[in-house]
Amino acid sequence: MSKTIKKICCIGAGYVGGPTMSVVAKQCPHIEITIVDVNAARIAAWNDENLDNLPVYEPGLQEIVAEARNRNLFFSTDIEKAIDEADMIFISVNTPTKNYGKGKGMAADLKYIELCARQIAAVAKNDKIVVEKSTLPVRTAAALKSILDNTGNGVNFHILSNPEFLAEGTAIQDLINPDRVLIGGENDEAIAALVDIYAHWVSRDKILTTNLWSSELSKLTANAFLAQRVSSINSISALCEKTGANVDEVSKAIGMDSRIGSKFLKASVGFGGSCFQKDILNLVYIARSYGLTEVAEYWDQVILMNDYQKQRFADNIIQTLYNTVSGKKIAFLGWAFKKDTNDTRESAAIYVADYLLSEQAEITVYDPKVSPERIYADLDYLNTRSSEENRALVKVVNTAYEACNDAHAIAVLTEWDEFKHYDWAKIKEHMKKPAFVFDGRKLLNRKELEDLDFKYYAIGE
Ligand code: UDX
Ligand code: UDX
Ligand code: ADP
Repeated sequence: MSKTIKKICCIGAGYVGGPTMSVVAKQCPHIEITIVDVNAARIAAWNDENLDNLPVYEPGLQEIVAEARNRNLFFSTDIEKAIDEADMIFISVNTPTKNYGKGKGMAADLKYIELCARQIAAVAKNDKIVVEKSTLPVRTAAALKSILDNTGNGVNFHILSNPEFLAEGTAIQDLINPDRVLIGGENDEAIAALVDIYAHWVSRDKILTTNLWSSELSKLTANAFLAQRVSSINSISALCEKTGANVDEVSKAIGMDSRIGSKFLKASVGFGGSCFQKDILNLVYIARSYGLTEVAEYWDQVILMNDYQKQRFADNIIQTLYNTVSGKKIAFLGWAFKKDTNDTRESAAIYVADYLLSEQAEITVYDPKVSPERIYADLDYLNTRSSEENRALVKVVNTAYEACNDAHAIAVLTEWDEFKHYDWAKIKEHMKKPAFVFDGRKLLNRKELEDLDFKYYAIGE
């Protein structure tokens, strides 16, 4: 008989912690869940009466928060109290790529994880199950255990690895109906306690249990394989543009081979998101640290191909606009790294914009969910130019029509559905001629645009 969990604390109220715990709260009304965060503004936003102000946008999330909040789901900045009261603690803090010191630009920065571990150890007065939810390099659990055991008050800690496989934009659906749930650990009772929670809505044959290291490595591997598929099809998209093959036709033809499968073969301006690049860099760093140079180089290529794709997209815009974009207005439709999210981490749009700005282009951005502050922060973070220059060269507007007004070209960076249904004749009327469209998502209808006399370029055609 496993321990029954009555109270859960989740440290980190971000894109992973927020939606995941909301769904656990929805499916397990008998468990009291408190999500805590050091960022008071974020917690206030999660507690906002107006659900449009939740810090994370995900289809279906608002309804769940409305149902569970203040019933068995709480958002708080009182981290110590939540740790103290919980039987099980999820760590769901960010683990960005290090931007300083050893492993800079490669390894995961584990300082937030370590801070959590030390805080749990300092506060805990009874046994706790500690669950790694954040994506972590293999063997992080060992570090976590060592800190907990050596700085704690003599209570028992059991560490579990329970990586999250949700994709942003479909987080709620992915959480409610996951392909699998993965739980790695060493203590059978602790594993059983977490299995029992998921078993409230996930069938047991989809709940896999493994050792800690397999679980940690599976998460990195899953993201590396997914990213590799995107880079693989993107490499073929470059070849299609030279040869007259069409990358969508190639995707379809290869995807019907059941050994390959049809998903995740959509050519694009490049993958973004907080996970793919970070996790591959982690994998590369770990392989190198074990002297596995060939393994490291193999995976590194997935990132190099992705960088090449973003650069290639920007280069094509410049070349097509008669080799100069200086002083030309380019409208960006979309800034998020994919549709149905307000997340912009590692979005291809950031890098394409940076490249075009270095060629003195003027950019006007419209994204249905991303705020102007976020867009400027993304550009400022690159440190390519001053934040005054970024604000002078980039304008963020409230409609696509406004963005496209007087533009020499439109670049589609995110596949938001609404872009498909615009009045393209009206848009063209207000653009400079010839009116160019560079579709980084293969979203729009070539025939419709060409009939309107747009010069239409899409990846891989
Ligand atoms: C392959 C393609 O599968 C087939 O569609 C194409 O028409 C010809 O090339 P084949 O080479 O006959 O067919 O065999 P396949 O089953 O693909 O195996 C190729 C090699 O990969 C073998 O040495 C096999 O042992 C190895 N392999 C395959 C693995 O090592 N691991 C795997 O998971 C699958
Ligand atoms: C990913 C994994 O899918 C998820 O399992 C893991 O938990 C976190 O990382 P996420 O980054 O949220 O999820 O989104 P995903 O749908 O995987 O897309 C990642 C990037 O790849 C996006 O920029 C997307 O536009 C791009 N992509 C995806 C393509 O360019 N082509 C495709 O065929 C699929
Ligand atoms: P993810 O996509 O992994 O969820 P986010 O950056 O969206 O990443 O969320 C991580 C959250 O973790 C942030 O809101 C951050 O403030 C919070 N956080 C980081 N370190 C700590 C800590 N030591 N204690 C509490 N919260 C933390």
